Amino acid sequence: MIYLDNAATSWPKPPAVLAAMREFAERWAANPDRGCHRMGIEAGQRVAQARAGLADLLAAPDASCVVFTLNGTDALNMALKGFLRDGDHVVTTSYEHNSVSRPLAGLERAGRLSVTRVDPQDDLTLSPDAVRRACNPKTRLVAVTAASNVFGALNDLASLAKAAHDAGAAILVDAAQMVGAARIDVAAAGLDMVAFPCHKGLFGPMGTGALYVRPGLDLRPLREGGTGARSEDETHPEEMPYRLEAGTPNAHGLAGLAAGLAFLRDTGVERVRERELALARAFSERLSGVKGVTLLSARGSAPRTSIVTLRVSGMASQEVAAALDGRYGIAVRGGLHCAPGAHRALGTFPEGAVRASFGFFNAEGDAESAARAIAELAGGV
Ligand code: ALA
Repeated sequence: MIYLDNAATSWPKPPAVLAAMREFAERWAANPDRGCHRMGIEAGQRVAQARAGLADLLAAPDASCVVFTLNGTDALNMALKGFLRDGDHVVTTSYEHNSVSRPLAGLERAGRLSVTRVDPQDDLTLSPDAVRRACNPKTRLVAVTAASNVFGALNDLASLAKAAHDAGAAILVDAAQMVGAARIDVAAAGLDMVAFPCHKGLFGPMGTGALYVRPGLDLRPLREGGTGARSEDETHPEEMPYRLEAGTPNAHGLAGLAAGLAFLRDTGVERVRERELALARAFSERLSGVKGVTLLSARGSAPRTSIVTLRVSGMASQEVAAALDGRYGIAVRGGLHCAPGAHRALGTFPEGAVRASFGFFNAEGDAESAARAIAELAGGV
């Protein structure tokens, strides 16, 4: 199988991730930090290692700013619903993933807040000036993607944070497609909250996600309960990260994530990025000019991720994806990618498009094999 669906989840995981999960399950799988026995302490250390690894990757001021969540969607819900208050105005984009757009649309429909949605520029990036213009005195939050899961273009987070702060608002970034794929420095960029899954660019298993919360920013917890600390108190602890974490975490997954982060640190984000971009570039170049294939995502000179979105004329996107799978053993994702607004911007709504997303473990020949298969399907060879 040639796996080109790394924007959905990365595969395969580094062998060290599988080994760490296996070792955890076989030796240390007690409830982390809930018992004073050796197994509970070892389990707690795996969770702490994953937290420290994330803080290091994000250049966060300290590890207590990093909260573990179920996935990226959970982190985004935690940020949006824990931060926003009735009457707030939010600026977002018209091309967010449903994990941002649906919670906002739900709150908007309930009459609890108002939302302004900013369209992408021609190069498929978000203009900080357009965000600035969309803000008003009631704007409390700018909630934007770091890189759309359909376009792949990376937004200028520091300029977007400045636009938000100049308007007196905080910024929440959906970094699902950016963490691990490009360098991110939350303090230097001035970001208030950053939400992401840990099973894509960070090589962790599914069921792991995280939310970075700037020190001093107060989020209401959506869940309260046991934390393993201060059991005598009637109310949930105030201190981070426990304020936003309740109940037994996915420690099996976090043990794997700690190993995934160590792999990423040892390999280097820049090396991962160069490899993925080289594959995406080779794929795009091979397909550009092929009759019947329209490349939709590779526009302009903005920095980008390894996502390449395209259409094959005369074929539905799911038909192309099924043919690539069935006839060639190639995994891509067709359809709307849970981001209907992005497809409206590309002019591919409601049919959707074909998305290939390259990962660090793809072989050099994968780009050529996939491009040849698509060219054959398009009849343009
Ligand atoms: N959000 C994931 C994707 O883009 C699942 O495919």
